[in-house]
This record gives sequence, C-alpha cells and structure tokens, in this order.
Amino acid sequence: MIANAGISNDASPIETATVDSVQEHINVNAIGPYLLFQATFGLLKKAKQPKFVVIGSALGSIGYMEQRAAHGLFAYGASKAMAHWTSRRIHFSHENIISFVVDPVSYSPYFYLAISIKEQGEWFADYRSLC
Ligand SMILES: NC(=O)c1ccc[n+]([C@@H]2O[C@H](COP(=O)([O-])OP(=O)(O)OC[C@H]3O[C@@H](n4cnc5c(N)ncnc54)[C@H](OP(=O)(O)O)[C@@H]3O)[C@@H](O)[C@H]2O)c1
Repeated sequence: MIANAGISNDASPIETATVDSVQEHINVNAIGPYLLFQATFGLLKKAKQPKFVVIGSALGSIGYMEQRAAHGLFAYGASKAMAHWTSRRIHFSHENIISFVVDPVSYSPYFYLAISIKEQGEWFADYRSLC
C-alpha cells in the first residue's frame, strides 16, 4: 500500500501560515495516510509481505532541518512530519508490516535525469525562493 496523495498549496512561513491552511495540509498529508492504514489494516494483516509506504518529503524531516532549514512551506513540512512519524509508528507497532517513508524528489536521480539542465536551474530557483 502506498500513501501517495498529498497537497502543497501554501508556501507561507510559520509567521503567516493560517490555521485553515495548516489544517487542510494536515487533513490530506497526515490524517490521510493514517486513515488509509486503518482502512487497509485487515488486508495488510493477510498479506505475506505487507508494506505500507508513505510518500514524504525532505521538508518534513526534523533530523534534516539543520542541513536544509526551509523557512517557507510551514503547513506542508509540519504535515509531512506527522506522516513520517505515522510511518515509524506503524513500523514499531506492527513487526510484520514493513513501513517506511520515500521522498520522491530529493534522492531520485530519475527526477534530475528527466528534466533538462535549464529546468533543473529553474526548479532549484523556485525551490530556494520558497525556503
Ligand atoms: N512533486 C514534488 O516536488 C514532491 C516532492 C516531495 C514529495 N512529494 C509528495 O509526493 C506525493 C505526490 O505528489 P505529486 O507531486 O505527484 O502531486 P500531484 O501531481 O498534485 O498529485 C497529488 C495526488 O494526490 C491526490 N489528492 C490530493 N488531495 C487529495 C484528497 N483530499 N483526497 C484524495 N486524493 C487527493 C490528487 O488527486 P486528484 O488527481 O484527484 O486531484 C493527486 O492524484 C505527495 O504526497 C507529495 O507531497 C512531491
């Protein structure tokens, strides 16, 4: 099972992020994966090698924050942090279920191969402007 659905529609930093926006991101990015886990728990228990993968983000990492302190995208980062925690909780609560987080962008060579050098420059410029 892969919890992929997610949103990121607000680049605001903590100083200006609204409760509505943070709540919306938490609903989709954090509560979504845990409800998906609950909905599929019965199937996971029956599977031979059950896996519950959460699509996360470097912006939701607490450990990585020191290396890349993202100033913006507060709602997104905070919601992904909860999603990451949920995956670790599943991992430690259910020893038969393999659960981990994947960041599809930061560590994917395919992402960088799939776009041109010019697009990479634009992408990083956009990314840096949000952080
Ligand atoms: N793109 C990036 O740079 C990036 C970086 C790091 C992590 N991620 C993560 O990767 C995952 C996929 O992102 P993406 O870039 O592929 O985004 P995307 O193209 O916008 O796709 C997001 C998907 O989530 C679904 N979704 C959104 N809100 C939903 C809701 N309330 N209920 C059910 N489904 C909902 C969307 O469904 P509809 O098509 O029906 O709208 C869409 O299929 C997300 O978890 C995202 O946070 C993306």
